[in-house]
Amino acid sequence: MSAEAQLKYPEIISDRIPEHVAIIMDGNGRWARQQGHMRIFGHKHGVNAVRNSLEFAAEVGIKYLTLYAFSTENWNRPQREINALMELLVDTIQKELPALMKNNIRLKTIGNIQMLPKKCQNQLKETEKATAGNDRTTLILALSYSGRWDIIEAVKKIAEQAKSGEINPLEINENTLNNALNTAQYPNPDLLIRTSGEMRISNFLLWEIAYSEIHFTKVLWPDFRKEHFLEALIDYQSRERRFGKTSEQLAN
Ligand code: IPE
Ligand code: IPE
Ligand code: MG
Repeated sequence: MSAEAQLKYPEIISDRIPEHVAIIMDGNGRWARQQGHMRIFGHKHGVNAVRNSLEFAAEVGIKYLTLYAFSTENWNRPQREINALMELLVDTIQKELPALMKNNIRLKTIGNIQMLPKKCQNQLKETEKATAGNDRTTLILALSYSGRWDIIEAVKKIAEQAKSGEINPLEINENTLNNALNTAQYPNPDLLIRTSGEMRISNFLLWEIAYSEIHFTKVLWPDFRKEHFLEALIDYQSRERRFGKTSEQLAN
C-alpha cells in the first residue's frame, strides 16, 4: 500500500492486504424495487459501485479483484433483463476504457464468454487487448460463469490429456485441476464479499474459495462504496487464517 493510501486509511494494516478479493455483487433488483423502479435501474446504479470498489482496490494495492457479474444460472432470467444487462456491459466497458488506462487497470474475464452476444465478446476482447500492459490491479469479470461449469470444463480437459497419454491419471493432483481452470493464472481469493444480506455462494468460485475469508454485508450492491469495502477489509485483517493448523503453531 502506498504512503498516500496509508494516510487516507490509517486503520488498514499495510502488510496484510489481501492479494485477491472476489465479490458477489448482489441486490440490484431489490434496490431498484425499493424505490419503485424496474430492476435494470438497479443494475445501472450498480456500475457506480463497481467503479468505486475498483478504485479502492487499486488505491490500497489489491492485485486482483474478481466481480461476479453474470452467472450461468442468470441465463434463466427474463430475456428483457438479460438483454439490458448485456447492453449495459458493452456500454460500461466502452465508457470506462480511458479510466482503466489512466489508473493502470488490466481487464480479464472468466466464464463461458462464447455464450455472450458477439458485440459483448468483441468489446471485451478489445478492452483486454488495450489494457494488457497495465499492471496495478487486474479486474476479472466473471461472465456466464459458474464454479461447477468451470470444474466440468477442467475435468474434460484433463480427461482428454489422460486419454492422449499426455498425463498419467495417477499423477493428477491439486495443481492439475488448478491449471485447468479459468482462474489458473490467479491466486485463490483471500477474501470473498457478498452484498445484500444473502448468505450463500450461488455457484461462484467453488474450488478457489476453499480457504477464503468470507464477509457478508446487508448493503445492497448499488449502495456499496469504499467505506463498506474498507469495513470488509478491516474484518478480514482481524481474522486468524489457520489453514488447518493451531493458533500455537502459527505463533511459532
Ligand atoms: C445482482 O443483483 C446482479 C446480477 C445477478 C446480475 P440482482 O439482479 O440479483 O438483484 P436482486 O438480488 O434480485 O435484488
Ligand atoms: C449471484 O447472484 C450471481 C451474481 C451476482 C452475478 P444471484 O442473485 O443470481 O444469486 P441467487 O439466485 O440469489 O442465489
Ligand atoms: Mg440477486
